[in-house]
Amino acid sequence: MRSLAARFRRLRPRVVGLLGCLTAVLAAAGLAASGPLSDAEKEEFLLRARVVSRQIIPIGVTASERATLTDGRLTHAAHIQTIDQTHRRLRARKAVYINLRDSYEFNIAAYRLDRLLDLRMVPVSVERSVAGERAAVTWWVDDVLMMEAERRSRGVKPPDLAHWNDQMQQARVFTQLVFNTDPNLGNFLVATGWRLWMIDFTRSFRAYKRLPEPELIERIDRRVYRGLRRLSRKALRRETEGYLTGPEVNAVLARREQLLHLIDARIAAQGEPAVICDLPGH
Ligand SMILES: Nc1ncnc2c1ncn2[C@@H]1O[C@H](COP(=O)(O)OP(=O)(O)O)[C@@H](O)[C@H]1O
Ligand SMILES: [Mg+2]
Repeated sequence: MRSLAARFRRLRPRVVGLLGCLTAVLAAAGLAASGPLSDAEKEEFLLRARVVSRQIIPIGVTASERATLTDGRLTHAAHIQTIDQTHRRLRARKAVYINLRDSYEFNIAAYRLDRLLDLRMVPVSVERSVAGERAAVTWWVDDVLMMEAERRSRGVKPPDLAHWNDQMQQARVFTQLVFNTDPNLGNFLVATGWRLWMIDFTRSFRAYKRLPEPELIERIDRRVYRGLRRLSRKALRRETEGYLTGPEVNAVLARREQLLHLIDARIAAQGEPAVICDLPGH
């Protein structure tokens, strides 16, 4: 009787062929055989894929675009943001900002900082040239159910309110950390499974060393809390090089200190279970 090993050797070319076909079919459908694309694979795609079409997005204020990209195997949408200007005087959220830098570069800095903290609520974003112009090109979140603004105006209730509130709390922690002067609810996207995504950081990363609205911070996810503690100047500088200036990096680190201080004081006063939550990993 032929051994199992011999049978396998005989069948192997067919198995390999079949797997190859399957991979090609999955790739054509926009899926990798190994499951969803990793951040590195998305970065690679966004950097290299050809821009096939571009359309201005009618909502929003900066006339950014939704583009279709393809590398021949995979076709996916991306957001293109090219704004890079300094407002001498800008009113936002009841405050007036002088010399406010409004830049696509902050979308990339926000993505990098999000991953340093293991937050995973900001879509992958890279810098590249599109038709001769430097831009932040960001992975399009394509399973968006609604924007948070719409959810509130329509009064849609999340199926698991506690889980939703905890996600919103992480968004608040991040908004404070990056000092986003434009945290409008159109920049919080509700995707399938009530997963929350944050976009649009072009008006973030002010060089102020204080938190804009510390009273909004109530709870933090354990992973993000550890990420905040772990965050080193060296890693932050390395990951945001070319996107954040020295004073902008220093301000992030100063706000980080204040966030930790505030959270630790809440833990001391209310106990850990009231302050630390454990959101399921993405
Ligand atoms: N990565 C993305 N995935 C899905 N939708 C996006 C993405 N980026 C932007 N959008 C959509 O485009 C709109 C405008 O983009 P945004 O970056 O907020 O620009 P603006 O600065 O003009 O507000 C958003 O409100 C959102 O509906
Ligand atoms: Mg916006």
